[in-house]
Amino acid sequence: MTATYTFRAENEGDTEQFGSRLSTQFSGGEIVGLIGTLGSGKTRLVRAIAGALGIEPRDVVSPTYVLLHEYRGAHPVFHFDLYRVADRDEWSELGVDEILEGEGIALLEWADRFREQMPSSWLEIAIEVHGEHQRSFTCTAHGNRYEKLIASLQS
Ligand SMILES: Nc1ncnc2c1ncn2[C@@H]1O[C@H](COP(=O)(O)OP(=O)(O)OP(=O)(O)O)[C@@H](O)[C@H]1O
Ligand SMILES: [Mg+2]
Repeated sequence: MTATYTFRAENEGDTEQFGSRLSTQFSGGEIVGLIGTLGSGKTRLVRAIAGALGIEPRDVVSPTYVLLHEYRGAHPVFHFDLYRVADRDEWSELGVDEILEGEGIALLEWADRFREQMPSSWLEIAIEVHGEHQRSFTCTAHGNRYEKLIASLQS
């Protein structure tokens, strides 16, 4: 099984649908690392997922200065922005490990900055920009928990 799936979005509506489809796969305890350049759509995808979980989409903003936002929806959602997290010490201070061990859904922007700190199982979503409104989202499973999720996205 190739544990990868690519979704192509022609516009934000498609991204919204993809976020909603992803959220139906979540049961709690999922860890999703979002990777992509500035403005690629990491926060936009988090907003789509959160909205589908019953969270007010307007509450979802880039946690760039706060580093972590917590939202209450069908599941607790922890939204990290690791862009300004300097090193492992700051990672620990932020309590990331404890949250990743919990039952909330963790969405981490810039997860590629801390690949070595990520747990053995997580879902990677790499975003590529193809035009003003076009994006692709490539999901890769790290650890077998997410292989099943990817298989469901493929079908
Ligand atoms: N199909 C699309 N999917 C997602 N975002 C889109 C799409 N089309 C256009 N956009 C726009 O791209 C921008 C994505 O911004 P967003 O804040 O989500 O990026 P980001 O990856 O979180 O950036 P940063 O690294 O600064 O946090 C938004 O302005 C959004 O409106
Ligand atoms: Mg962002």
